[in-house]
Amino acid sequence: MTTTTDLPAVPAGLTARRPTEADHARVQATLGDWWGHLGGEFGDLQRALLLPRLFFQHMTDTSALVEDADGRVVAFLVGFLSPARPGTAYIHFVGIDPAARGGGLGRRLYEWFFALAADRDAREVRCITGPANRASVAFHTRMGFALEPGDREVDDIPVHSDYDGPGLDRVSFVRPLP
Ligand SMILES: CC(C)(COP(=O)(O)OP(=O)(O)OC[C@H]1O[C@@H](n2cnc3c(N)ncnc32)[C@H](O)[C@@H]1OP(=O)(O)O)[C@@H](O)C(=O)NCCC(=O)NCCS
Repeated sequence: MTTTTDLPAVPAGLTARRPTEADHARVQATLGDWWGHLGGEFGDLQRALLLPRLFFQHMTDTSALVEDADGRVVAFLVGFLSPARPGTAYIHFVGIDPAARGGGLGRRLYEWFFALAADRDAREVRCITGPANRASVAFHTRMGFALEPGDREVDDIPVHSDYDGPGLDRVSFVRPLP
């Protein structure tokens, strides 16, 4: 059955589709530059390891990839419905080509995912980011996410120390779905 949540609506000249396993290396290749090598080599390595092939094998049904007319990757969103927590959806990774930022593409991908998740009976969406990624904190705040209280604050941002392991602090977001 086709529904309006099948694929994100994207501007003219771009196309959206579900990612496939063949997209894994192409998306991996964007991570360094698109994240501005935040955190140096360790940051680059962390991000690469956070997006293993399994997401392009098993989570493609709830993820999206946007390409331009030449087939270049312009944006992607990797998300899923929590298997263990019915009613919770999770956005694991989102990236927009720096040249395509500020034009609402991130918002379009998120709103598509919100609608898809709501269609599948999710009542909230969750995600996390690194405390150094202030652009991500600003974006998620604009997208209606609340920052969950942490165990400490850095520049007024609640931080969960060692959330993903020793020294791997995170900011945790949650947004209700209508
Ligand atoms: C964060 C990111 C996904 C935003 O994508 P984008 O396409 O530029 O975002 P949009 O243009 O759709 O902006 C949506 C809203 O967020 C706001 N926003 C986006 N980036 C922002 C920034 N750096 N600072 C402040 N606000 C920002 C916009 O002003 C807009 O607000 P509005 O719709 O209420 O007017 C993009 O900058 C990116 O890929 N960053 C690198 C990867 C990353 O950090 N991903 C998130 C963590 S996994």
